[in-house]
Amino acid sequence: MAKAQKSYICQSCGAVTSRWAGKCESCNEWNTIQEEQTEGSVPKGLGGKQKGNIIDFVDLKHDTSKIYPRLQTRIAEFDRVTGGGLVPGSAILIGGDPGIGKSTLLLQAVCALNANNVSCVYISGEESTDQIRMRANRLGLGDSSVKLASATNVRDILASVKSAPKSVQLLVIDSIQTMYIDSIDSAPGTVTQVRSSAQEIIRMAKNRNISVIFVGHVTKDGTIAGPRVLEHLVDTVMYFEGDRSHHFRILRAVKNRFGPTDEIGVFEMAEQGLIEVKNPSALFLSQRHEGVAGSAVLAALEGTRPLLVEVQALVAPSSLGTPRRAVLGWDHNRLAMIVAVLETRCSISLSSHDIFLNIAGGIRINEPAADLAVAAALISAISNVALPSDMVFFGEIGLAGEVRQVSQPELRLKESSKLGFERATIPQLNKKAAKKNSAIIVKEIIHIRELSESLVSIAAQ
Ligand SMILES: Nc1ncnc2c1ncn2[C@@H]1O[C@H](COP(=O)(O)OP(=O)(O)O)[C@@H](O)[C@H]1O
Ligand SMILES: [Mg+2]
Ligand SMILES: [Zn+2]
Repeated sequence: MAKAQKSYICQSCGAVTSRWAGKCESCNEWNTIQEEQTEGSVPKGLGGKQKGNIIDFVDLKHDTSKIYPRLQTRIAEFDRVTGGGLVPGSAILIGGDPGIGKSTLLLQAVCALNANNVSCVYISGEESTDQIRMRANRLGLGDSSVKLASATNVRDILASVKSAPKSVQLLVIDSIQTMYIDSIDSAPGTVTQVRSSAQEIIRMAKNRNISVIFVGHVTKDGTIAGPRVLEHLVDTVMYFEGDRSHHFRILRAVKNRFGPTDEIGVFEMAEQGLIEVKNPSALFLSQRHEGVAGSAVLAALEGTRPLLVEVQALVAPSSLGTPRRAVLGWDHNRLAMIVAVLETRCSISLSSHDIFLNIAGGIRINEPAADLAVAAALISAISNVALPSDMVFFGEIGLAGEVRQVSQPELRLKESSKLGFERATIPQLNKKAAKKNSAIIVKEIIHIRELSESLVSIAAQ
């Protein structure tokens, strides 16, 4: 029999170490390593006389029209992120900070699916069934026939799902960190429990073609295992993000075996639950003050969808030896690069200034196409000249200061003119797109220097 052993496991990434340490060597998080009891079975190779079972091989060629259709909630913002609905038999993880709205989102999603005749079971390890009912009433979903249970024992859950009178098509586990397998010694929420519970549930789900959605809380203090330890076990990983001080929430796919990974869904958290935001650009620009130096509008692209956001820069003389560079919603290293390019290629001195950069509204932008808008905001801030309020920017900047083309310029320009913008500064290499959109006056630039020169001429007017 395998002897139970003690190991030290990082609760954030699942790395195993032989000793306790304050900082995890593999993910660099602090205070995430905890002692756990594991089954101490060392893999022994395939020795012995026992023969393997025969696996049936099947042809690749197959009439795929019989494959089950995706489960669609018809909540467009949700379905888009899943790649057009949930694939039957797939495992999905939705991670996010506690209180961000994961349970609310999933309750709305299962009720919507149930209304489309998908039989759903919602199992909560955190709330009683009455608490879930109260939430459903508040969301106006009180008369849905979704099956609820409050349970945490995986063995019981598997048995109940298998023997449910109507075969289950979707199972929601809220949250995986409350689930446990009674034959494992570790406490619920440890890496061993979280991983084994998920594995057991996924195995059953794949056998029976049930889709499973796991909720995974993200905690910074490492007291419970983070969703990262599950990422490789599931087919799709989504994060539900947002700033508690803002009303909107973003559902973002970071891994998807059955769809694109850069899609986002935007929701607004209200008393009656999460409301889809059909026009996020209008939302993100709604609080923009026009005519302020340091503000530039970026025509970004999130997945297949264009998104206009405001880039705000503040440049102030620094009293520090090493001036501050603070960034919210964008990449810190990318800002350092843009600053270096502005200094070397455009002779704009920023080395004695603190720089603060913010993507307004609390959204995170990842694409290099933001470079030009960031550069415009910085030049505008340092020269104290407001950019034209009806102008958008997009373009990647290279180390030589060249402005490189970006993908989908047509979509970006179309969204801009839809929101009333009349001018755009874009890479010269994207000019073909500009020809197709006559509603917008496009200035094509080859080098970042042209941008700083045109701002100087605006200032002179
Ligand atoms: N009565 C209410 N009215 C409006 N919003 C509420 C109400 N109750 C809870 N909420 C919102 O729902 C959020 C909790 O969402 P929940 O789905 O439980 O989060 P999670 O499952 O991610 O921890 C709270 O942070 C709050 O913003
Ligand atoms: Mg919850
Ligand atoms: Zn780690």
